[in-house]
Amino acid sequence: MGDAPLTAVIVPAAGRGERLGPGAPKALRTLAGQPILLHAVRNLATARDVDVIVVAVPEEAVEESRALLAGIEMPITIVSGGDTRQDSVARALLALPPEVDVVLVHDAARPLVPAEVVDRVAAAVRGGAEAVIPTLGVVDTIKEVDGEGVVRATLDRSRLHAVQTPQGFARDLLQRAHAASDGGDATDDAGMVERMGATVHVVPGHEEAFKITRPLDLVLAEAILVRRRASGGVG
Ligand code: CTP
Ligand code: MG
Repeated sequence: MGDAPLTAVIVPAAGRGERLGPGAPKALRTLAGQPILLHAVRNLATARDVDVIVVAVPEEAVEESRALLAGIEMPITIVSGGDTRQDSVARALLALPPEVDVVLVHDAARPLVPAEVVDRVAAAVRGGAEAVIPTLGVVDTIKEVDGEGVVRATLDRSRLHAVQTPQGFARDLLQRAHAASDGGDATDDAGMVERMGATVHVVPGHEEAFKITRPLDLVLAEAILVRRRASGGVG
C-alpha cells in the first residue's frame, strides 16, 4: 500500500561530544572497532516497527556517514544537523516522508538501546498515546541545591524518573511543538510537547539504553558489547 502509515526514527547525531574529551564528533568515535553511529542505526533497524530512519550529523560528516550506513537494509536519509540538539531534530523533521505518522527520536549517543525498548515505545504511540518516553527509577538520592551550595530540598525519589530515548510522538504533535519553540535548545523532545499541554506516558526503559557522555561510559559500553558477543548476540 503506497500510503500505509509509517514509523520513522530521527537520530540526532550532530553533537561534538565535548564531555567525552578532544577528538572526532561523538557519533563517529569508535566503540569496539566501529563508529557509535553505526552501532546505533544498526540496532534501530532491527526493531520490528521501524520503517525509515533520518540521521542528523555534523555538516562535514554527511558524506562519511552516508558511506558508513550504506550497508544497512532500511531507507536512511542523512541531513546536516544544527547548533543545538533541538535544531538537529527540527532539520530531520523536514526530511520525513509524507506517509510517516509516528516519529521516534533517539540519541545516537545511546547506541546499545535494546530493540525491545524501541518496539515498546513505538507500540504505545501506535496504540494511541500521543507522547511516550522510556524511563528508569533513579538510584541516587536527589537534592535541590541553591547557588550558594546549600541544600534547599530533598526530592521524593519514588516519584523521580531518569529519562531515556527513543521518545515517541504522533508526528503532528512533535511538529507543532517544534514550530512553537523555534530556536530553543531543549535537551528532550518530551519537554517541548509537555509545554503544548500534551500528555506524556512512561514505559520501562533499560539500563543498556544509557547515554555515552563521559569517558567512563565508553568503558561500560565496550563491556556490554563483549558480554553480548560472548552470549552469541550481535554487536
Ligand atoms: N546532538 C545533535 N546536535 C547537536 C547537539 C547534540 O544532534 N547540536 C545529539 C548528539 O549527537 C547526541 C544527542 O543529541 O546523540 C544527545 O546529546 P549529548 O549527549 O549532549 O551529545 P553531545 O552534544 O555530542 O555531547 P556534549 O554535550 O558533551 O558535547
Ligand atoms: Mg550536548
